[in-house]
Amino acid sequence: MPLNKNRSLSLKEMTNSDFNRLSSYIYNNYGIKMPVGKKTMLQCRLQKRMRELKISSYKEYCDLVFSKQGQEDEIYQMIDVVSTNKTDFFREHAHFDFLKNTILPGLNKNDSSGNFVKVWSAGCASGEEAYTIAMVMSEFKEKNPDFDFKILGTDISNKILTEAANAIYPLNKVSDIPLNLKKKYLLKSKDKTLAKVRIVPELRAKVKFARLNLMEDNYNVQEKYDIIFCRNTLIYFDKETQKKVVFNLINEIKNNGYFILGHSESLINMDTPIKQVSPTVYRKV
Ligand SMILES: C[S@@+](CC[C@H](N)C(=O)[O-])C[C@H]1O[C@@H](n2cnc3c(N)ncnc32)[C@H](O)[C@@H]1O
Repeated sequence: MPLNKNRSLSLKEMTNSDFNRLSSYIYNNYGIKMPVGKKTMLQCRLQKRMRELKISSYKEYCDLVFSKQGQEDEIYQMIDVVSTNKTDFFREHAHFDFLKNTILPGLNKNDSSGNFVKVWSAGCASGEEAYTIAMVMSEFKEKNPDFDFKILGTDISNKILTEAANAIYPLNKVSDIPLNLKKKYLLKSKDKTLAKVRIVPELRAKVKFARLNLMEDNYNVQEKYDIIFCRNTLIYFDKETQKKVVFNLINEIKNNGYFILGHSESLINMDTPIKQVSPTVYRKV
């Protein structure tokens, strides 16, 4: 079907059958629940991608996604548009106060392998959470020279992970970073017309990003973590999936390590080997 002048496609509504094919695939493979009420949202999110591909029906798009080739490439593009990547620096800042005032001063250096305190930001989106953690830990390191740390950020979306690794953010995204930290950890663009900043190389060097699907049975991580942040990610999963992911993540935390969820998430009724020590902050005992 030819594209009209404003490049919008006159798409028919997605059939329930096509919606079910996509939504059950997304749910079964990535855990993201997609009740029928999300059909309009899914349609809107796929439209831009379909325009790029000059595909004019959802059926054709489904056939592409589920083709042998599509399973090797288009599926990753689809996940990029389907995932909700909203995040911010110092989002739910009480967690970073707790990290600074309670967790870091209480960590036993000898508990940490190679003396690196290891932190995992699971469902890291575009990296703001990981870099916020890095700023707080760098500040602590400045006063405690023996202390060192490394941070891993993981997500299912390749596109968002590329953004995270680039660490370039529009100025309006960094307004929640305290001024003293902005001065230390952000670089202004040389091109003054660009309202963008970049995280300084020293901080970027502390954070690595990798693709990891939390639905995997085995995360294949090499060493256990001192602290895992998994915030505002479980909310997209149903209870059963949440429980599976939570147990898998707890398994990767060292004894006495911490597990931090988003403020609207909880471990209620999960019978986990972990105790709450502050709102949505848990400790493996
Ligand atoms: C709303 S963001 C949360 C970002 C950050 N943790 C925060 O609290 O600001 C949720 C992230 O989880 C990721 N995600 C969703 N399902 C996932 C899965 N099965 N495995 C890994 N990441 C997933 C999404 O791609 C998205 O970037």
